[in-house]
Amino acid sequence: MLTDMLNNNPTFATAFVAVIIAISLSAVFCKKRRLTSKEGHPLPPGPPATWFWENVMPTVNIGSTFVDWATEYGPVIMLRQGGVIAIVITRVDAATEIMEKEGSALADRPPMIAADELLSGCKRITLVGSGDRFRRLRKAVHTHFQAKAVDTYKDIQFEQARALILDILNDPNSHQKHTHRYSASILLRITYGKSGLTSTDDPDFVGVREVVAHFIEGMRPGAYLVDRFPWLKFVPGYGRRLRSFHDSDLKFYRGQLSRVERAMSSSEDVSPSFSRTLLENVHDHQLSFDEMSFLAGSVFEAGSDTTANAIITIIMAAACFPDAQMRVQEEFNMVVGMDRLPSWNDWDSLPQLHAFISESFRWRPVTPLGLAHRSTRDIIWRGYYIPAGTSVTGNQWAISRDPVAFPDPENFHPQRWLDQNGQLRNDVNSFAFGFGRRVCPGMYFANRSLFIALAVLLWSFRIVERPDAPIDTTPDMDNIVAHLVPFEVDFVPRIEEARLREMVVM
Ligand code: HEM
Repeated sequence: MLTDMLNNNPTFATAFVAVIIAISLSAVFCKKRRLTSKEGHPLPPGPPATWFWENVMPTVNIGSTFVDWATEYGPVIMLRQGGVIAIVITRVDAATEIMEKEGSALADRPPMIAADELLSGCKRITLVGSGDRFRRLRKAVHTHFQAKAVDTYKDIQFEQARALILDILNDPNSHQKHTHRYSASILLRITYGKSGLTSTDDPDFVGVREVVAHFIEGMRPGAYLVDRFPWLKFVPGYGRRLRSFHDSDLKFYRGQLSRVERAMSSSEDVSPSFSRTLLENVHDHQLSFDEMSFLAGSVFEAGSDTTANAIITIIMAAACFPDAQMRVQEEFNMVVGMDRLPSWNDWDSLPQLHAFISESFRWRPVTPLGLAHRSTRDIIWRGYYIPAGTSVTGNQWAISRDPVAFPDPENFHPQRWLDQNGQLRNDVNSFAFGFGRRVCPGMYFANRSLFIALAVLLWSFRIVERPDAPIDTTPDMDNIVAHLVPFEVDFVPRIEEARLREMVVM
């Protein structure tokens, strides 16, 4: 019957031959690949192979699968797909020793055909491999978002944090929407100089949400077979959906940058922004117009959903753990009092707030799967061999549940981030912003956006879980950015409401 199909159906015959060649090549490649280092160090352990040396990466319940595997196989788990070796790190000390200390060997990204080639046209900084182009992209972002630069944006963040309180007073049930508006407003202003996003119907807000949805789809583990069988990208018609997303995303990002360019070339007074800096410094970074369009857009998309989801997680944690919330508010009572809003000057005096934020990141990591890096040279770690070309990922869900670094990890316990004097410890890290040379370049900015929003929010309201609306705290973790199930809470003003309105409007 097979012979009949091969003889009578040329399309089937071609596909069949292609599959056989692909399988044979990957088998030969697997056999040839050294399974130990020159000195005889073995690869790290991992679950047994299922077929043809394959042990497929989980695509559902990924975080909890790695938590279980960490107990069975240890802190560094090896999976093999054809000729490709993937390592997943599940513990803090292994992450520190491999991802941080060997950071220079792990600045690269593995090929991601669906998300990088087809969806991003190889323009997205998040997925670009190491090398000269990556350095130029990263330097451009660093200049604008490094620790020294981000102080300049404090007024914008404070103004938007006060607007967030007003939004919640006016329409508490839409708190998730307001939080997205908060983070998008700030980023639209910093990235494109656009002021005052007043509603979530704004076309720029709607546009970027669409691009983020495309990215999340392209990055969904196991969603695209082409990442396992790269030859599929040559099959006519394959990847049409991703390529069309790319075209519309690029059009949207070009439109944003063109608007800034047009304003600069007219006599308009153009606010400072990341885009303006990019357009003014083409000689330094040598990026094309499309590369700049995608870079500005990538910064906006990388920052807006993550920041909003982090704040929503913290609102959820405040409602679920009222005692921990009360400690933060007791600290406000002592440090800030009730006659003024918290301000930037309180940054160093609110360790309970910082600890609450860090614990929320650990409890429900915003990017639970982590992003894969790739080793560019062989690494030997505690007697195990991680060959050059390995995809290396720190699984943030599992790392955050490391029972040695975070005893009783399922317990929400902000005090674990504080020393015996009540000051923030600097010897613990749950790697919420990633690792080594690819660590999130927006982390200083993001930390400030979170601090001021949450200082003002938790100072203004006691957040209470409603008896008639129990919160489902389990996020959908199988995405690059975790998504929480929508929930409702009561925001009970801690001072008289009219006075609160007066204070935030100023
Ligand atoms: C709570 C908020 C945020 C979280 C949790 C977060 C987390 C992350 C993580 C885990 C990575 C990958 C790191 C790695 O590969 O090891 C990353 C990359 C990145 N983030 Fe963030 N991020 C946040 C906010 C921001 C903001 C506000 C910006 C922009 C201002 C930003 C810009 C970027 C960019 C451009 C990359 C790609 C860097 C690269 O591949 O070299 N992020 N972020």
